[in-house]
Parts: sequence; structure tokens; C-alpha cells
Amino acid sequence: MRRIFALIACMTMLTVCFSVAAEEAASHGPILVVVFSATGTTKGVAEKLAEGLAADLYEIIPEEPYTDADLNWNDPKSRTSIETDDPMCRPAIAGELPDLTGYETVFIGYPIWWGDVPRIVSNFVEQVDLTDKTVAVFFTSGSSGLGSSMKHLEQQAGVGNWLEGKRFTSRTSMDELMAWAKELGIEP
Ligand SMILES: Cc1cc2nc3c(=O)[nH]c(=O)nc-3n(C[C@H](O)[C@H](O)[C@H](O)COP(=O)(O)O)c2cc1C
Repeated sequence: MRRIFALIACMTMLTVCFSVAAEEAASHGPILVVVFSATGTTKGVAEKLAEGLAADLYEIIPEEPYTDADLNWNDPKSRTSIETDDPMCRPAIAGELPDLTGYETVFIGYPIWWGDVPRIVSNFVEQVDLTDKTVAVFFTSGSSGLGSSMKHLEQQAGVGNWLEGKRFTSRTSMDELMAWAKELGIEP
């Protein structure tokens, strides 16, 4: 009889251990979706991603908003042209930066500017602490790919486990975004 009790106790303990391990494998902890978007395209993607993953959303808002003239890439004297020409330029971010403590995964979304990441996003990654965070980037563009934008951000952050970024558009569906997150091993 004692042996039977011992066996049942052992099996119960094993079941508990396995279910805890399975839960841990499936869980990725709290997720933050960070986005910079000058004309709303990347923000739309970020909102869908955050909703699908039940994640928090933080928008990088420039202290000085970008006007249409600022965004004119045909004008070599426009604000964005001048910022792009200066690798050390770090446009100021309005308000407080988010506290990343407690987040395991941070998505960072941005539009491609001149084949690269907007300088204000570089400012963001240099100011927050991404130590031990899983970082996944996503971007929108007219047609350009990721280029060196993610590599630059990774270098500027100096820490974090960076996953390969992906391009989306204003037509990207929630299902596509969730499929991408699943590919990365991140599920709600
Ligand atoms: C200053 C500037 C530079 C851009 N440079 C590129 C580029 O190099 N390649 C590209 O495909 N699209 C480029 N675009 C287009 C944007 O990446 C695209 O419209 C993006 O979806 C805008 O996102 P947003 O609405 O979130 O700001 C540029 C746009 C601006 C304003």
C-alpha cells in the first residue's frame, strides 16, 4: 500500500513539473511594442501587433513634430535630409521614456528613411536599457528593405538579443503579424 502511495505521489510531482516546464516554454513574459511613425503607416502596424499580442504600446513622439516640409526627401535642406546627413544627430523625444523593467520582449517599429532608421529611434535605443531583452524590429517603407537599419540600432543599443526584422505595409493583416510573431517564437 505504501509503495502505491509513493508511486502516486511521484507521478503527481512529475505531472506538476512537466506542466510548469511547458507553461514556461510557451510564455514570453510581458511584451512592449515601441513605434516611431511620422505619417501613421508604421503606427497602424504597431497598433495591430500590440492588440494581437496583448502587448503595451509606446509611441516615440518627437519633441518637435515633423512637418510635411521636414519630411520632403527631395529637398536636401529639409530637416530629415539634414538629420540623415549627420550620423550623430539625435532628435529629442517628447515626454518620459518607458521603463523596460519587467518586459522580456520589445518590438521596435519605424519607417525606413534614406535606407536607414530615423535618428530619433537611435536616440530611443541609446537611452533605454535593452539588456537581456529579446528585440524584434519591424518597418514600413516605399519599397526598401531592412538595409543596415537594424544592424545600426543593434550597435547603438549595444545590448539585447536582436531578431531579424521584417517589412510590413498598411495592408498587413493581424493574421500575418501573428504568424510572424509565432515564427519568432513569440505568442500571446
Ligand atoms: C525622409 C524620408 C525618407 C524616406 N526614405 C525612404 C527610403 O529610403 N526607402 C523607401 O522605400 N522609403 C522611404 N521613405 C518612405 C517611408 O519609409 C514610407 O512612406 C513609410 O511607410 C512611412 O511610414 P510612417 O507613415 O510610419 O512614417 C522615406 C520617407 C521619408 C519621409
